[in-house]
Amino acid sequence: MVIAMEKKKIINNFKTEYINNMKLYSDYNDSLFKIDDFRKWKDSLIERSNSIRKMFLDNEKMISDIKNVLNELDDESADLLSNVIKKFNKENIHDSSIMIEIINKLIDYFEKKENIDYDRLIMLNLIGALEEMEFYLRMDSNNKFVNPKEKYLKVLSYKNHYDEIKTIDGRRGIFLAYYNLIGPLADIVNEERDNIIKYYKEVRKFYYSDIVQNKDDDIDKLEEEMVYINDTFLSNFIYYINSPLKDEYFKLIEKLDKSDLEKNQILSIDLAIKFVNNELSLDELVESLVELFIQYVGNGLRYNGKDANLNKFCNALDIADVIFYLLKENDYDENKKYNLIPKIGFALFDYIGSVPYKDYTSYFDDICADLFEKLLPFCQNRAYKDELLTMLILRRQPITYIHSIMVEKISVAIAKEILKNKRELFSDLIELGYDTDDKIIEYISNAAFYHDLGKCLTLGVINLQNRKLTDEEFKFIKMHPAKSIVLLNNDDSFKEYYDVMLGHHKFYDGNGGYPIEFDNLKSKYKSAIDLISIADSTDAATDILGRNYTVGKSFSTLLNELNQFKGTRYNPDIVQIINDSNELIEYLDELTNEKRIEVYFEVYKKIINQF
Ligand SMILES: [Fe+2]
Ligand SMILES: [Fe+2]
Repeated sequence: MVIAMEKKKIINNFKTEYINNMKLYSDYNDSLFKIDDFRKWKDSLIERSNSIRKMFLDNEKMISDIKNVLNELDDESADLLSNVIKKFNKENIHDSSIMIEIINKLIDYFEKKENIDYDRLIMLNLIGALEEMEFYLRMDSNNKFVNPKEKYLKVLSYKNHYDEIKTIDGRRGIFLAYYNLIGPLADIVNEERDNIIKYYKEVRKFYYSDIVQNKDDDIDKLEEEMVYINDTFLSNFIYYINSPLKDEYFKLIEKLDKSDLEKNQILSIDLAIKFVNNELSLDELVESLVELFIQYVGNGLRYNGKDANLNKFCNALDIADVIFYLLKENDYDENKKYNLIPKIGFALFDYIGSVPYKDYTSYFDDICADLFEKLLPFCQNRAYKDELLTMLILRRQPITYIHSIMVEKISVAIAKEILKNKRELFSDLIELGYDTDDKIIEYISNAAFYHDLGKCLTLGVINLQNRKLTDEEFKFIKMHPAKSIVLLNNDDSFKEYYDVMLGHHKFYDGNGGYPIEFDNLKSKYKSAIDLISIADSTDAATDILGRNYTVGKSFSTLLNELNQFKGTRYNPDIVQIINDSNELIEYLDELTNEKRIEVYFEVYKKIINQF
């Protein structure tokens, strides 16, 4: 039983301290990027590690306190907690799993009350849906969008109580729910596109009804929402070109007039209609879209934190999306296509690179991954693709990048020792055609560098490492091997690394690790998987800087573990190769200890130079 005073204290503490802690990591990250003196930089990095380790423990305590309060909600604590949620949302904090848990409990509580507080329920459902979309976006489950959709539909159901909604923000919430159903949700879940027309007709009818028109003095605020809804509806036009609903859709579009749309919306209705009526060629349409694109991001647009600036980028991104779609679905001059698309993509990546960590982290992570997936098929050679991948990991996932470089160095060192003393360990690779030492080293080095690529599709909050992960988030982490392949979209030029990506968390004897579906024993790349699995554990266990939740082990402790689990988890022959070479042990000891900080610094410098 938590007493009332105590509850209030717990919630207030959570509201200020937890939010501060959430920002701490990004602030440290951003400041690290500004220091170019190695000594100062090193001090700051060590300070970051220490303070984040402490924060981790504080957060654990706060979360467990809040969970106790959630089990004993009363009017005061429910009220305070819904203000916390509002603040999270306002400050762009997306600790989705924690927020969803609190929000669902609050919705339950407020729905059972005699006098329904519609304004509050609308707010909670909208924020809850937003977090659920964020959370489930990267989850592989068929019904991943059932939850957010249910929340939006719940908000729509409050239309019947329009008179009882007290604030304009509450009433506006209904239109926001429509906006999300027509725009963002339909963007992610293709099946939802079929409902867009239905929702659109509904919301227009509702907006022009007497209930809405006679209610508000601030009707202009709702009108604003309608403008966004119209824009979003219009931007769906390309998906309807080949749809049986085409006629119905374009009839609705023709009804719109200019004042219904935002001034700088991406596409004029005239263009869309001309194109659909074959009065405008694909070439001409693409040309005018590219012109618009350049208007927004031309001259190297860079992030400056202002809304207008971000809007320009978002508009450019929307246009790029339309261009990608048009070129993918239609016959278009191949040469033009392969020149144009990477150029557009790289311009967008340049902008993203200029966004500091503290702003919009998870939002930009999603955009990055999405852009990458769209651009990959248009990069004609490996060099281009490698460049794109490096860009993707480098700025948004620096920890993964550093880890990849470390695993690469460790793998290559061990591989060289294997080649010297027991070359036959690589007989599977040799049979596959990696028949010279150089070819083997090159293969191992690339496979190591790319082994964790799937982490680019993880949740922002997992990278923050600000608290223990929830069970569901753990499941998420275990998906990263499979996500590498998703991210690469089965691209042929990376196929040779797929087994390492999939198998590096499997045990040597096949009796443990993940993913269960992947049988590492049958892989033609077994030796590489085993080697990179050892290198991966070596870096992860000894990392004292990047992973804040643990204190890194020394290499000798790790080597004991490798020996303890050789034959089961680790390949015994490779462990023996390490045991037998004092020189290698010395190198790995140094690399994972004092040298590690230099590798970190090199990466930071590379990032600073690149953006
Ligand atoms: Fe991994
Ligand atoms: Fe890894």
